Amino acid sequence: MEEAVEHASGPSLLPADRVQMLDDVATPAVLVDLAVLERNIARMADAARRHGIRLRPHAKTHKAPAIGRLQIAAGAVGLCVAKTSEAEVFATAGFDDLFVAFPVVGADKGRRLLALADRIRLAVGVDSVEGARTLGDVFAAASRRLDVLLEVDTGLHRVGVATETVPGIARRLADLPGLRLRGLFTHAGHSYAGETPEAVAAVGADEGRTMARAAEAVRGLGIPIEEVSVGSTPSARHALAVAGVTECRPGNYVFHDASQVSLGTCGLEDCALTILATVVSVPAPDRAVVDAGSKTLSSDPLRPRIGGHGFVLGRASRLSRLSEEHGVIDVVPGESFRVGERVRILPNHACVVSNLHDRLLGVRDGRVETEIAVAARGRVQ
Ligand SMILES: Cc1ncc(COP(=O)(O)O)c(C=O)c1O
Repeated sequence: MEEAVEHASGPSLLPADRVQMLDDVATPAVLVDLAVLERNIARMADAARRHGIRLRPHAKTHKAPAIGRLQIAAGAVGLCVAKTSEAEVFATAGFDDLFVAFPVVGADKGRRLLALADRIRLAVGVDSVEGARTLGDVFAAASRRLDVLLEVDTGLHRVGVATETVPGIARRLADLPGLRLRGLFTHAGHSYAGETPEAVAAVGADEGRTMARAAEAVRGLGIPIEEVSVGSTPSARHALAVAGVTECRPGNYVFHDASQVSLGTCGLEDCALTILATVVSVPAPDRAVVDAGSKTLSSDPLRPRIGGHGFVLGRASRLSRLSEEHGVIDVVPGESFRVGERVRILPNHACVVSNLHDRLLGVRDGRVETEIAVAARGRVQ
């Protein structure tokens, strides 16, 4: 693993081995527009700074230490990850403040977290006393304490405890040996179902207010709550403006994607990650096929409403169907594609695209400026 991870003391973005013009890049390839990436990172950092909120970007979107370092350089306090193994990769790359925002369960994970806690400032998510105990027992046996944040369900209905049960569960967590309750966290992923920008804004405001109230209720029991952590990319700007919120964890904002454009979170010009693909077949006037299928783009649906598998930039035609290696474009009247032509595709969901590729090509002014290793891709345990 070590050689795939550039160390924190190294430069953030390493120059590519050789100068490569975009026309020479083998397809399909994942391109990252560096100017857009840098602007996205700076804007979210500014929004957090303006509201006095700690920014802890979710690294699930890029899984790349080089991009994480740009986020830290812009002011992020640390990173958030989804898996213990992702935390191990980022710790090895020199990141010293990580939050595993997932209900981690089991003594095996507890032992790995104990080893990590020797090296970095660490916290993990929990959403049950039973699950938390599996970690606390490992830390208590070593006379150590693991920082945990209790996950609260603010409407996604995935994991997390119901808001009315937060004080009671927080009390029991605070009393468990081997643990320290650092705070509460939530992910308002139901923001992705928001059909209008107003609906998305309402989800974000509610996310922040619900969490601030829940934290006050726990503090009312005499239990200190240091962190009130919120965040999804659509809801982030609204949730971080709520008094009582202390930390925000958006991930997708570094790249954005077709779903964020459809939700109104950003414009096409704010999308940093695209797929460079070649048209390999035009079997009929209304059908063109590119060399990017589900192995490149994933099969994730467009949000908030289903609508194909990615936008073809500069065209109204969309990818309507994917098999593993083929992406089928429904060619709209008035448009045409020719075999050998290269197109840029904006994927529905950028976070899953990075998980499918070993490296991303950082592009500026039509040239590949850097190759970005996706060091934590596929780290699922
Ligand atoms: C727990 C948690 N926090 C934060 C995020 C970041 O959300 P987004 O990708 O919308 O920025 C996610 C994304 O799935 C998540 O699951």
